[in-house]
Amino acid sequence: MRPVRLCFIGCGKVTRLHSRVARTLRSGLVLSYASRSAERAEEYRRRFGGLRAFGDYAAACASPDVDAVFVCTPHRFHAEHAALAARNGKHVLIEKPVTRNLSELASVEAAVTEAGVLSMVAENYFFKPLARVLREHVDAGDIGQLLFVELNRTNRRPVRGWRAEADMMGGGALLEGGVHWVNLLCSIAGRPTAVIAARPEAPYPMIAPFEDSLEVLVRFAGGAVGKLLHSWNLLNRAGGLQLSRMFGSLGNVVFESNGLFALVTGRRTRMRFPGVLDIMGFRGMLQHFVDSVRRGTPPSMSLAVARRDLAFVAAAYRSLETGRMEPVDDATTPASMVG
Ligand SMILES: NC(=O)c1ccc[n+]([C@@H]2O[C@H](COP(=O)([O-])OP(=O)(O)OC[C@H]3O[C@@H](n4cnc5c(N)ncnc54)[C@H](OP(=O)(O)O)[C@@H]3O)[C@@H](O)[C@H]2O)c1
Repeated sequence: MRPVRLCFIGCGKVTRLHSRVARTLRSGLVLSYASRSAERAEEYRRRFGGLRAFGDYAAACASPDVDAVFVCTPHRFHAEHAALAARNGKHVLIEKPVTRNLSELASVEAAVTEAGVLSMVAENYFFKPLARVLREHVDAGDIGQLLFVELNRTNRRPVRGWRAEADMMGGGALLEGGVHWVNLLCSIAGRPTAVIAARPEAPYPMIAPFEDSLEVLVRFAGGAVGKLLHSWNLLNRAGGLQLSRMFGSLGNVVFESNGLFALVTGRRTRMRFPGVLDIMGFRGMLQHFVDSVRRGTPPSMSLAVARRDLAFVAAAYRSLETGRMEPVDDATTPASMVG
């Protein structure tokens, strides 16, 4: 089978990360690079052994040497660059969050549908070994009926460059980093129906546009309740390690939030180590996209799944404005989401 010729749009940090991961894939992937700077594209092509280097994004999308495009630009440009790729008949992989808001996402959905190309969101948490292991225990009934899921993700990190600009980000920390945890929460507990969010009202130096720390409570269609504490501005001396939990009618699971281990106590007690080789899911994510393009089958981390996650974030931001529980299927863009 012919390798997939994938061109990165934007040569920044995440493009470097995916390029390193691409070297470890078992099946064929040929990389090219597009940058606003021809020199930078060429530097990446040389460094990662790529096929082509393009000095502008449109030329890359139009090139017959490219089958698929990986949008790795700031959030503000995701919709524009994904649509550019689709209009040129290229399959498209889009970094998370898929877009800044649901109306931008609708424009991407229309473009890929009209072009008949495959689309996927590079939500690596969907492919984390931890997500699979937790789901296995829920599906096997090991903890009985799932009642509560509690995810904790806090650290303190500097916020620089376009991430400090409201228009480029489109939201705050929950939209940028928290959307990964929203995806994990929904992988475990299913379809979210309503969300309420709160942030500290005490004064403190905020480091991101709109919000850097939120606590979110969520109801799921299956009856479980979820809780997510997400922050870019709380000290975590354990290098990012922390505990999360699931509680069921017959038992519970305590797990390290990133996936180092999970202790299951219920119908039987088991210590699980989901695996560190692809702990973040980047490899599984890229391999799945390559396999989907080669087979011509729709990827599982679809725009529809990304719509669910983005709608969750939008509902959380709306609830900050209303102070109420907000339905997840309401497509109204809250004032705190730019676009
Ligand atoms: N899945 C993950 O875990 C993960 C991790 C990190 C980032 N991301 C996502 O990946 C995307 C890119 O993040 P990043 O960390 O790679 O950012 P970055 O290092 O700043 O790179 C973004 C690239 O976008 C291009 N770009 C186009 N217009 C730009 C503008 N006006 N300002 C700044 N850059 C512009 C630039 O490439 P050229 O100059 O070469 O054109 C830049 O290098 C974001 O959506 C982010 O949320 C995901």
